[in-house]
Amino acid sequence: MLAPARSRFDRMNMHNANKLKIGLFGSNCSSGRAVTMVPERWSGSWPDNLKLAKMADAAGLDFMLPIGRWKGYGGDTDYQGATLETITWASGLLASTQRLTVFGTVHAPLFNPVIAAKEMVTADHIGEGRFGLNIVVGWNEGEFEMFGVKQRDHEQRYEYAQEWIDVIKMIWSDKEDFDFDGNYLHMRGIRGKPKPYGGGRPLIMNAGASPVGQAFAIRNCDAFFLQASRTSLAETAQRVATAKEQAKQQGRELGVYTVGVITCRPTSKQAEDYFHYSIVEHADWAAVDGILALKNITAQNTPAAKFQEIREGYAQGMGGLPIVGDPDHVAAQLADLSKAGLTGVALSLVNYADELPFVCDEVLPRLQRMDLRAAN
Ligand SMILES: Cc1cc2nc3c(=O)[nH]c(=O)nc-3n(C[C@H](O)[C@H](O)[C@H](O)COP(=O)(O)O)c2cc1C
Repeated sequence: MLAPARSRFDRMNMHNANKLKIGLFGSNCSSGRAVTMVPERWSGSWPDNLKLAKMADAAGLDFMLPIGRWKGYGGDTDYQGATLETITWASGLLASTQRLTVFGTVHAPLFNPVIAAKEMVTADHIGEGRFGLNIVVGWNEGEFEMFGVKQRDHEQRYEYAQEWIDVIKMIWSDKEDFDFDGNYLHMRGIRGKPKPYGGGRPLIMNAGASPVGQAFAIRNCDAFFLQASRTSLAETAQRVATAKEQAKQQGRELGVYTVGVITCRPTSKQAEDYFHYSIVEHADWAAVDGILALKNITAQNTPAAKFQEIREGYAQGMGGLPIVGDPDHVAAQLADLSKAGLTGVALSLVNYADELPFVCDEVLPRLQRMDLRAAN
């Protein structure tokens, strides 16, 4: 029997009518995205991921996005030291859910494109068209050294990624037994079957922040992640509009997403107290400083006040937008992001599975009443 068509439109909409897509980001890693020492921090284990995905699927969330991380960051907790490989993780979750889109986060320079294309098609068949690809080019030198792969200079990373995704898209198309001769890849007689589930191809996203990274995303992807301004919604709206306009100029439609770091409790005081407890009092500062050093941000080269501000930003959600408050506040902030033109938000929580039920019970119905989400 022929599989039902999974059009680009269906895939971009994550197979539902929710105006504001809500997903979870980073649960495949120990500690998730909170650089904290609190004992309830996220394990990142498979049973916990499976429990979380089933919960998210039942609540009608739209997607799960993992982090492609190969080496932990050390510190007192070895932050993100234990991570589940993302395509394998996605395959397991897709087999166990009905509605969620699940991404794999794939380092283009580390995965042979013929293998990656087939792994992703396999996941896409398991999920009947619900697999998505987050392309990353990598930035962490230590990870590349571990593979014995030389990190290219920044611009070349994206040139290589262009050839990589070109080959993969050709493998996923009707092309058969083709050759590819690029500046980096030279391949003969390429074929790959089966094709993605139901025709079309997996949703592709990228989160490049540099001009060359953003241009790559706009040229190749269906979804683009950008950083929301912490201080100005108008600034966020401007960033979204610019990205969408650039895509439109190339005749492309683009979903634009951002990352939100949620602390939601019955009262704003409880939320602020927990935020302070987990991220200020019990932050794993040694890990934070290690991450910043990898990005060449140190107390020596950064003014003290600025350095402390960056440290605090990294402790909670690695630069994502912190949203701390009661359900009314959290829902209002998410609604504002939708008003700024965003298609969706990828959320992280200190302990995803413990905190998600409250968010689903209290925040999602508020978003439904604002017509931002369909009834579950
Ligand atoms: C939502 C999101 C997810 C990302 N996931 C990863 C990841 O899993 N692994 C990784 O090495 N980089 C990841 N990145 C980093 C980006 O792919 C990108 O390299 C970074 O934003 C810097 O942009 P640039 O490459 O244009 O300099 C992520 C960034 C964001 C915002």
